[in-house]
Amino acid sequence: MATELESALDSAAKLALDSKTLVRIVLSGRRRNMSVPFERIDIRPVLIKDEITYQVTQTDGRITTAKNISPKKFNPRQYLEMGYANILVEHTSGALSIRITKKGEAQVHEEKGAREQNLEHDRKKVRLLDSADPFLIEVGISDANGKVKPTRADKYLQVEEFLRLLVPTLNSAIAAKQIAKPTTSKPLVIADLGCGNAYLTFAVHQYLKSMNIPVHVIGIDIRPESLKRNTEIAKKLGISKSIEFKAEAIDQTSLTSCDIAIALHACDTATDDAIAWAVNGGAKLLLVAPCCQHDLQTQMSQIPEPWNILTKHGLIKERLGDLMTDSLRAQILKLKGYRTEIIEFIGGEHTPRNIMIRAVLTNAKPTSDDLATYKKMLSDWQIDPALASRLNILE
Ligand SMILES: C[S@@+](CC[C@H](N)C(=O)[O-])C[C@H]1O[C@@H](n2cnc3c(N)ncnc32)[C@H](O)[C@@H]1O
Repeated sequence: MATELESALDSAAKLALDSKTLVRIVLSGRRRNMSVPFERIDIRPVLIKDEITYQVTQTDGRITTAKNISPKKFNPRQYLEMGYANILVEHTSGALSIRITKKGEAQVHEEKGAREQNLEHDRKKVRLLDSADPFLIEVGISDANGKVKPTRADKYLQVEEFLRLLVPTLNSAIAAKQIAKPTTSKPLVIADLGCGNAYLTFAVHQYLKSMNIPVHVIGIDIRPESLKRNTEIAKKLGISKSIEFKAEAIDQTSLTSCDIAIALHACDTATDDAIAWAVNGGAKLLLVAPCCQHDLQTQMSQIPEPWNILTKHGLIKERLGDLMTDSLRAQILKLKGYRTEIIEFIGGEHTPRNIMIRAVLTNAKPTSDDLATYKKMLSDWQIDPALASRLNILE
């Protein structure tokens, strides 16, 4: 281990062991060639029966589990060396963040500034969006009293969880210089493709603005009534300068590029249009939660042995088609130089369409194996994914 990384981890461990001043530890992202057991781990001191204990909360994107470890048994190095690329240790007088690069080097950043320690044991999940925020009332997620409408509760949570993934991904991409730090003269350009009623579009705009991140957000939807409704809401909120809408088909949009492309449940192959448009425009980051994939379902007629064990059951065949569609989308993104993951962005009880494709443009060259396995899958199954026909992947 490089000396700098070793000494950074030592400093982090020292801060972690001081339970009187530790605020929290957040571990996220995966180091190159390492696998991690959870999407993210949060550790914080909590007071249980008059004793400070370490509460370890582990989330795999869908299920969150928590356990409490006594200070005597708590070994911070065990967590710090688990394979996470981003380590944040907040303490009452500042924060230490370590980003471990692909080469295994440590990028260390120290910040001064008081932070409050909260030792409450069963702290409620902090909401990112205040349900009484005027934008939530205007878009119709909350009622006039600022309470989330029961019929919109799932959408509210989907949007929140989307933001929960977007923000750390954006911060890591800025830290890794994959995205230039946005400025007032060069704001971050975010396109929401298939924005519909623009719940997510407005949420991203308002939330990033509240974090002082300069943004310009564009919502695109084929329906002219979406344009009309969303433009009026933007005017009412007084934010028309930094959010705009277009009534256009994604594959024919007049917008040529963006930094970040997002799409939440753009129907069927509109998701492929969104990915293709973003890749062709050189988007640095894509967060796409697909829905209703019918493209491969109809093509799955030549089933290679022994897969017919699965495909003879209609229900399983349909799910397999969905999984194959998203897996091939991820593989195509990898072939186009994106580091790609597929994660669950919200629990299945809030939407069955809870898969997210998250891709960061690293321009890493795919291996010949990446292309060979992709081609073999297409030839074995006699399929031609919609995304492949929209992108030139063999160049
Ligand atoms: C299921 S809705 C999701 C809307 C929104 N993203 C949300 O999560 O609430 C899908 C939206 O995609 C739009 N859409 C479908 N195909 C499109 C295309 N090719 N170009 C632009 N918009 C499209 C539809 O008009 C619809 O508003």
